[in-house]
Amino acid sequence: MKNRIITTDITLEDEKVEKTLRPRSLSEYIGQNKVKKNLEVFIEAAKRRHETLDHVLLYGPPGLGKTTLACIVAEEMGVNIKVTSGPAIEKPGELAAILSQLSEGDVLFIDEIHRLNRQVEEVLYPAMEDFAIDIVIGKGEQSKSLRLDLPKFTLIGATTRAGMLSAPLRDRFGVVNRLEFYNVADLMTIITRSSGVLGIELSDEGALEIAKRSRGTPRLANRLLKRVRDFAEVEHAGIIDYNVANEALDRLDVDSFGLDDTDRNILTTIITNFGGGPVGLDVLAAAIGEDAGTIEDVYEPYLIKNGLISRTPRGRVATEKTYKHLNIEMSEV
Ligand code: ADE
Repeated sequence: MKNRIITTDITLEDEKVEKTLRPRSLSEYIGQNKVKKNLEVFIEAAKRRHETLDHVLLYGPPGLGKTTLACIVAEEMGVNIKVTSGPAIEKPGELAAILSQLSEGDVLFIDEIHRLNRQVEEVLYPAMEDFAIDIVIGKGEQSKSLRLDLPKFTLIGATTRAGMLSAPLRDRFGVVNRLEFYNVADLMTIITRSSGVLGIELSDEGALEIAKRSRGTPRLANRLLKRVRDFAEVEHAGIIDYNVANEALDRLDVDSFGLDDTDRNILTTIITNFGGGPVGLDVLAAAIGEDAGTIEDVYEPYLIKNGLISRTPRGRVATEKTYKHLNIEMSEV
């Protein structure tokens, strides 16, 4: 039987394209070499022993391919995958229903697993450890606990913040992998591969320019490729070369570092409102009207990695590089 990917969400056109661009096997998957090589070994070992793969935790900033990797693991193991997310499972009974519908060896992928509520998380512990769930029947003194056996399955959890996972949950994953930002060469390969899948004509210089401005993130690289293609088709001959990519990305307000308006707003606010910092995350978030968690999970990791923000015990600080990038004199503020 062909493996199925079961999702319940309504998908938008862009998401559908994104799915067609996803690699389906580890050999097609570009970058994250350490994670990829380790997974290759664990998958091969489990298959040789005819065992279910141990539970896997994937963590790192958004857009680096956690869902893609989970789908690939299921494909390579030759099993089905059920995709859901932490906030989507509101009650213990809902998780129990999902778990009891799995077949032997299946992958259950829970995105944003740090957002599972406590009661639901407690159902996961025996499910992960003993492949069983305890169901309480009746109320008060009459109540009885029944243990229901589950098929052996692999939980793949994904989170942008491993630190927010409770220790008991984190400890139940046999494999823990951190995904890193992609380098420009890997992003170039991904963009070139995607242009082949979508039938876009793209020069190496065009691919390089998009890669440089993709914040180390394949999801963004593919999104920018599609938007640059729109400019190429409407205003040019349909081919993406350096000039077309450069102009389109400028018009999309993506700068030479790949920063967008929100990134720049964060940096500018640290400098102009708080004298370059240090400023606490919550105060900064209030000043720019953005959610603190979003700044911490989505924006900050790339800015920190590139030395545009440094994190100190007293708060976030702009660096010399920040002033240079924004063209602000350090003495101006
Ligand atoms: N598309 C998105 N992420 C990818 C990756 N890591 N390898 C190949 N294609 C991709």
